[in-house]
Amino acid sequence: MSIQTLEQFISEQQTQFPQAKGEFTRLLQAISLAAKIVHREVNKAGLADILGKLGNTNVQGEEQQKLDVFADHYFMDALERVSECCYLASEEHEDGIDLTKRNKYAAGKYMVYFDPLDGSSNIDANVSVGTIFSIYKRISTGEELQSVDFSQTGREQVAAGYVIYGSSTMLVYSTGKGVNGFTLDPSIGEFCLSHPRLKIPEHGKTYSVNESNYNQFSIAVKQYLQYCKEIDKDSNRPYSSRYIGSLVADFHRNMIQGGIFLYPDTFQYPNGKLRLMYECNPLAFIAEQAGGIATTGENPILDIIPTKLHQRTPLIIGSKNMVEMVEKFIVEF
Ligand code: AHG
Ligand code: MN
Ligand code: MN
Ligand code: MN
Repeated sequence: MSIQTLEQFISEQQTQFPQAKGEFTRLLQAISLAAKIVHREVNKAGLADILGKLGNTNVQGEEQQKLDVFADHYFMDALERVSECCYLASEEHEDGIDLTKRNKYAAGKYMVYFDPLDGSSNIDANVSVGTIFSIYKRISTGEELQSVDFSQTGREQVAAGYVIYGSSTMLVYSTGKGVNGFTLDPSIGEFCLSHPRLKIPEHGKTYSVNESNYNQFSIAVKQYLQYCKEIDKDSNRPYSSRYIGSLVADFHRNMIQGGIFLYPDTFQYPNGKLRLMYECNPLAFIAEQAGGIATTGENPILDIIPTKLHQRTPLIIGSKNMVEMVEKFIVEF
């Protein structure tokens, strides 16, 4: 069986675009390096002083975990060294970093938004966690970034992906020409192509939602969750309920097996809990590239015009037929 590493795959893709000068390769190499460093820490978390909380809260109002800060540091550091980056934004920082202000001659055209460690509440319990990234090209051409650069919808992403630190560590990404998955082989320190041309099964048998919020959901969502529980052999119901509490892990399961994930708005999160720029947009890009759907319940996630870096949105994402069914309930109720 031949091995194709992530770098070999990217340079093969590069040959299809003669004008590409390897900039994107360097960007993904930086992300892959940081992912390998986080993989190493996650896999010995109990032995390294990397578990537990730091005792402070981040801009989200969440208690920051040591691994949140560790992962943020290494993704920031790796990306800042890539001269092709002009802007970096992380869940863990209130503001993005405009690199054009630091060195106007070195800053390139790529803007990267990332969630350095997704599923932080699960770290100490040794449950899968992840990293999510979203890449845009700046639109403005002057020295400094302009507002037009920050109001690009998710459809303008030039690439998006995630890393899942699970029973194996995988990097899954898309540049708009389908989705490919790479599994880290720690014995050679390389991400190797393991899931070429990933597609989300059109239907699945699991639904993923934090049922403790049930009383706060709309009638339509409540009706859909009842529908999932009804006994109907012909349509493989009742579906199984699976909720890991790490968005990347719940989403990746649905990518492989089919299924639907819902995080609707609640009293605590009237606009939804999940963040548009570095959770929902990148996963929506991947979902649509893999034949799935990602919606707020009313509109496609990728059509939202961003107004704030950390803005939140309701998210319903996964298998085409299952999300279309929720949309039917929303229209009806
Ligand atoms: P993060 O750890 O990056 O802050 O994200 C946590 C998110 C997401 O991973 C998960 O789907 C969701 O929080 C779980 O929220 P609840 O605990 O409210 O269900
Ligand atoms: Mn967080
Ligand atoms: Mn997250
Ligand atoms: Mn996070």
